[in-house]
Amino acid sequence: MIFEQLKPQIEAIVSNTEATVDARLLSICELLEKNIAYYNWVGFYFRNGTKHELHLGPYVGAPTDHTVIPFGKGICGQVAVSNQNFVVPDVTAQSNYIACSITVKAEIVVPIFVNNENIGQIDIDSNTIDPFTTQDERFLEFVCKKVAKIL
Ligand code: SME
Repeated sequence: MIFEQLKPQIEAIVSNTEATVDARLLSICELLEKNIAYYNWVGFYFRNGTKHELHLGPYVGAPTDHTVIPFGKGICGQVAVSNQNFVVPDVTAQSNYIACSITVKAEIVVPIFVNNENIGQIDIDSNTIDPFTTQDERFLEFVCKKVAKIL
């Protein structure tokens, strides 16, 4: 199972204190995009201090205009408020959705908690329709827990 193979690699990246935090986050994006065929855009968004907006952090994939997302807007903005995973099997079925690229068919967003506070999220877009399972959720929760330790 690919997720079990990736877990130790995530741990190795996170614990590499020679690299900056942003460099480690980018390495995680690269690892996921490269190894999971249906992960086509992988990035992090983080809350901007006490403001109710998310700022784009390290990412891999097509550049996006959506570098700042207000809380409540789009899938990412909704997760900033709900504190829950959001799995979107078909983005065309979502009314509160921010399109980044016409190739994207599905999206998953998993929040990152530091001291029980939702401080950001990992966001993955897929060009495949309905590709995500609960296995993706559990794996991405693992990634977010590891990442939380270096934020
Ligand atoms: N689709 C997201 C916006 C971010 S992009 O996917 C990179 C949303 O609806 O929040």
